[in-house]
Amino acid sequence: MTEDDATMILPTVNAADAGGRPADGDDTAVFARVADAPPAAEGPHALIELDGVGMTYPGPPPVEALKPVQLRIDDGEYVAIVGPSGSGKSTLLNLLGLLDTPTAGTYWLDGHDTSKMKESHRTQLRADKIGFIFQAFHLMAHRTATENVAMSLVYQGVPRRKRRQIAREKLELVGLSHRLDALPTTLSGGERQRVAIARALAAEPSLLLCDEPTGNLDSKTADAIMATLDELHDEGLTILIITHDHEVADRAQRAVTIRDGRLREGNHLYEDREHEDRTPTDRVEPGTLVMPKAD
Ligand SMILES: Nc1ncnc2c1ncn2[C@@H]1O[C@H](COP(=O)(O)OP(=O)(O)O)[C@@H](O)[C@H]1O
Ligand SMILES: [Mg+2]
Repeated sequence: MTEDDATMILPTVNAADAGGRPADGDDTAVFARVADAPPAAEGPHALIELDGVGMTYPGPPPVEALKPVQLRIDDGEYVAIVGPSGSGKSTLLNLLGLLDTPTAGTYWLDGHDTSKMKESHRTQLRADKIGFIFQAFHLMAHRTATENVAMSLVYQGVPRRKRRQIAREKLELVGLSHRLDALPTTLSGGERQRVAIARALAAEPSLLLCDEPTGNLDSKTADAIMATLDELHDEGLTILIITHDHEVADRAQRAVTIRDGRLREGNHLYEDREHEDRTPTDRVEPGTLVMPKAD
């Protein structure tokens, strides 16, 4: 194992297909809150601004996973993105995390237009601004908790001693000061996710992107992890969390629903699902067995 293993915390970067851009002006998906928002004067600072950002996977056949959307997330917000499987959540997260490049529109991250940036610049911006937390933790199995956190700083050019010092501080912050030298296999699921949170915090990001962070945890442990995220938010961190757990979504200040690649302000997952559940029942012949929808 080498320190290059640190790259495994990030999913594979898909090469964007610059040739597959849909025509400009196809911004049918307007997002009420954003469209109605007055121009920010002295007010909150936009950390994320998506202007007509869309993503079409080249195929064949091409898949328009994200319709051109408007979205603004201000510094210090705590936002849940909810949507059923296949609705475009990971596509959106990969774009926001600069892991993928949109095929339409402009993504401003903390005032930087990321759309035309060179890959090396995007990588640097990602390392400076964004921490990631995934459902599956993605820890290096043969490295201690401290090493897992410290290695995320290798590419930041932080000297070795300093890396270890920061790692210890962040592990203490998430309540793991007693497990600094533990290997992931000896840690519980909740403790592993705490290591992953400490790692995400090591470079002092402005934005924490979380993809189903409690998906592999029992409800009590999930609750404790959510309490940690609440504290980080209270300290000013901007958090965006992808989830289809209503309790998780309810803890955020703001919810945005994604469905078929379209965004809508608010949590509409429940009402949409009720509507879907009702539709087939209305049509069936009496005596027909109706199976509940899986998702
Ligand atoms: N690399 C890809 N190539 C083609 N289609 C993709 C690719 N990744 C995702 N999709 C499609 O885009 C849509 C949204 O996927 P995804 O963002 O993964 O949804 P979610 O995370 O909400 O389950 C789905 O129809 C999926 O099949
Ligand atoms: Mg997904």
